[in-house]
Amino acid sequence: MYTLKRLEWDNALSTGEDGLDNQHKYLVDTLNKLGEAINEGHGSDNIARILGILRFYAGWHFGKEEDCMETYHCPAAGKNKNAHAVFIEKFDKFHNEFTNSGGSTELALKIHEEISDWIVNHILMVDGELYPCIHHRPKPKTGPLG
Ligand SMILES: [Fe+2]
Repeated sequence: MYTLKRLEWDNALSTGEDGLDNQHKYLVDTLNKLGEAINEGHGSDNIARILGILRFYAGWHFGKEEDCMETYHCPAAGKNKNAHAVFIEKFDKFHNEFTNSGGSTELALKIHEEISDWIVNHILMVDGELYPCIHHRPKPKTGPLG
């Protein structure tokens, strides 16, 4: 049994756009479902199913976020788009490796850790650049991550 900690939403992760924030919350929830499935020792079929949901949703969400950055003429738009492409490539590599190898718990743990770190850092460092473009003031530094 594993005891992966839940990822908690924090205001420091806000992009200043409610729709995108809700999509990020869904991604965090899905990562938590992945963590729970690993903790509870679910089979590789269920882990692969959650990875499929994450992949589908991330792809859809990235498109919405890229459009939003274009709309607000966010200077991070190009950087964001490139980062999304890198993520998708990384994710697909992991996903294929997991499915083709029969899916060990060790690999599931590695995927969970790398994807969680990437998503949280990306929201903080890149997506957060939307905030001043929408609100014309700096993003408030609140919360433990701020
Ligand atoms: Fe992004």
